[in-house]
Amino acid sequence: MSFQAPKGTFDWLPPRSERALAVRDALVAPARLAGYGYVETPIFEATELFKRGVGESTDVVSKEMYTFPDKAGRSLTLRPEGTASVVRAVLQHNLHNGQLPVKLWYSGSQFRYENVQKGRYRHFWQVGAEALGAEDPALDAELIVLAAQGFAALGLTRHRLLINSLGDSTCRPVYRAALQEFLRGLDLDADTRARIEINPLRVLDDKRPEVQVQLKSAPLMTDHLCAACRAYHEEVRALLTASGVAFEDDPKLVRGLDYYTRTTFEFVHDGLGSQSAIGGGGRYDGLSELLGGPALPSVGWALGADRTFLAMEAEGLLDDSAQSRVQVYGVPLGDDARRRMFLLITELRRAGISADLAFGGKGLKGAMKGADRSGARFALILGERDLAAQAVQVKDLTTAEQTEVPLAQVVDVLKGKVQ
Ligand code: HAM
Repeated sequence: MSFQAPKGTFDWLPPRSERALAVRDALVAPARLAGYGYVETPIFEATELFKRGVGESTDVVSKEMYTFPDKAGRSLTLRPEGTASVVRAVLQHNLHNGQLPVKLWYSGSQFRYENVQKGRYRHFWQVGAEALGAEDPALDAELIVLAAQGFAALGLTRHRLLINSLGDSTCRPVYRAALQEFLRGLDLDADTRARIEINPLRVLDDKRPEVQVQLKSAPLMTDHLCAACRAYHEEVRALLTASGVAFEDDPKLVRGLDYYTRTTFEFVHDGLGSQSAIGGGGRYDGLSELLGGPALPSVGWALGADRTFLAMEAEGLLDDSAQSRVQVYGVPLGDDARRRMFLLITELRRAGISADLAFGGKGLKGAMKGADRSGARFALILGERDLAAQAVQVKDLTTAEQTEVPLAQVVDVLKGKVQ
């Protein structure tokens, strides 16, 4: 083997890949029911979009972007997240001039040059939902409920929802200054001291025990919220409670992207170790303006499909039993039979029955092995004598029972058996 997938990336192969697709679909199904429409944006964008949108002081922008010049010298970046692109697309196509909020969902690859560990990859898959152009606590609550429904539909139980408010442009600057004042008095290394001046809220997220101890009496945003932000947050909380969605207040919850205002939240799973966030999001009321658009208060989330998959494994929700590739498998014996079987299998597929056949001129033994491996319930055996009689042997591979069925009737007979 001369080539390997690049570090931090991996291949999804059957049958796990089929389950991964089903997980992605299940995570966004509730949002689709709530009227969110599908949006697809390019995998690369102008680098400046992420610098401005996500924020230059974030780890994502300052350390983790896959940035490259194209042949005309433009700086492009593989998308590290979806929100900036969705806002860009809404503004570019004037969707915000129609009915508000604009509700969109997406599903796709994201790229971050991270330190690789379990659950933290350089190429990963997010599904996301964004609602743009409305300031309404019910919209924040709607999105949180939809994400919770997605996880619940997959059978997950060992996850928790953490929520917080990061305030707005009135109260956040006051809190930021108070936090800086507090942090400057602590015993911290040079890198962290530098962070106090650029992005002090991120210091709250420092996981090192020696830092956490000192942060015990740090001022909290929740104690500094202005009246409007406090009322907004209380309404979101009340709607979640009324919807039966359990949550924990986490006043130190800080997200890794700079665009957040007011509501922020994260879903963490207790079976995943340090990379425990299976999804997160929040309100980003200023992002549109940062990207040159009008005021467009918005809220959204992205759920990590790979981590959700790991969480399902941790909860034993993915059984390893071999899955059937197809329902029916054709075993032709001889050239004439092969031609006829090819047509029969095509007919079965047209009738909505999944079917495959032995390729490569295999004999009975090899072809029957193929039938077993495919997981098919029925093998169709067609020899020269069958062909002469215009019949086919239908073998039930679970009971080994074999019956002869006229070729003209086999599609109908199988329809009755497999559906
Ligand atoms: P984020 O918290 O950076 O938010 O990512 C959302 C989710 O993507 C995480 O909770 C995690 O499950 C998954 N994820 C992130 N990085 C990795 C990685 N390196 N490997 C595997 N999974 C990962 C955002 O991206 C925001 N755009 C969410 C949002 C939408 N906020 C508002 N709207």
